Amino acid sequence: MSLPTPSYAALEHSQQFLSHIKEKWAPKQCISFEEWMREALYNPYWGYYTGGLTKLSGDNETTVLQGDFTTAPELSPWYGRTLAIQVEQVLTAAESSHILEFGAGSGKLARAILEQLADPTIHYFILELSADLRQRQQETLKDFLSQITWLDSLPTDFTGCILANEVLDAMPVKLIQWNQAQELEEVFVSWQSDELTYQAKPASPALLDLAQSRLPAYPGYRTEINLQAESWVREMGNYLRKGGVILIDYGFPRNEYYHPQRHQGTLMCHLQHHAHSDPLRYLGLQDITAHVDFTAIADAAIGGNLEVLGFTSQARFLMNCGILSLLNQLDPNDVKDYARQIGPVQKLLSEAEMGELFKVMLLGKNLDIDPIGFISGDRRHTL
Ligand SMILES: C[S@@+](CC[C@H](N)C(=O)[O-])C[C@H]1O[C@@H](n2cnc3c(N)ncnc32)[C@H](O)[C@@H]1O
Repeated sequence: MSLPTPSYAALEHSQQFLSHIKEKWAPKQCISFEEWMREALYNPYWGYYTGGLTKLSGDNETTVLQGDFTTAPELSPWYGRTLAIQVEQVLTAAESSHILEFGAGSGKLARAILEQLADPTIHYFILELSADLRQRQQETLKDFLSQITWLDSLPTDFTGCILANEVLDAMPVKLIQWNQAQELEEVFVSWQSDELTYQAKPASPALLDLAQSRLPAYPGYRTEINLQAESWVREMGNYLRKGGVILIDYGFPRNEYYHPQRHQGTLMCHLQHHAHSDPLRYLGLQDITAHVDFTAIADAAIGGNLEVLGFTSQARFLMNCGILSLLNQLDPNDVKDYARQIGPVQKLLSEAEMGELFKVMLLGKNLDIDPIGFISGDRRHTL
């Protein structure tokens, strides 16, 4: 597959980043894939998210081709407006007016929610690792600045509604494989021969235990385990006093995630709207993601004393929250505007696009609620 060629300056940046990694990890000449992904995305100076590139594409003709990928909040404001219905129900049940969003992208989800709720007593907290996205958020949210606080670290105490849209998929994963002898190996990235290559090493006993409890030992099967995402969710149980957590991402329950046919795992890279599967190329210039094992997330939540209150597809969640009634606000006689707004909504709902691959999970703590977004089609039994 042919990929776009990044600019000379971008390639230079990538080369310098690679030299920096080689120097930093010189004695070993290799690092675990998990460390490689952490460096690639979050190295404080060079990382894809932390190093100042345009990552997210906008929703108009001039910005849609910039960046590397588009997310639901970027596609349509109706996404955030509909999500706000579930957020409001959580806030009421938690008797709180606090929302905390992780990795808030361009700030469009926050804006759509604040506009929909139209309540000046709401306070919106954002925890964003990327300095340039934080700047974009300040611009997008300039009409709501008095209602927003940017946090630098996790709260010690929180009551309200937590949101994370496409955050779990951006957390570094461990890459593992069963070799032909059905022994578990952890995959490393090596440059001993000067070329970047994968190197497999026997997995630690702890990783072996974990893998054995999650997937059969199919010979030659390579996949991922996202321990960082699991501990991030478990940790929520420590600081969430009362409230809900809405996690939205692409992924599956475990038996689908570790399906025998998915023998190359789910790692994906995005470079200027081209998806490919080679995370060793374009260091620092491309997004690297893995799908989410929602069974692992549910188990981590329960381990952190959170309850799993709902799990369904994005399409079902948006329908349950009443996206179609909200769209009644549009004037069907204004054909041009109607078509402009409905097209992206169809993408959000279509099974062939985001409607089925993306899932929504609601976690709760001390929350007495019959969540509207999961009123029909709740799939917790599949986890
Ligand atoms: C694919 S982007 C999604 C951005 C936005 N939520 C959206 O949907 O448009 C992933 C975001 O998750 C953020 N992220 C990853 N790990 C995080 C963490 N532990 N805390 C806060 N943000 C995190 C990244 O910095 C990045 O901004």
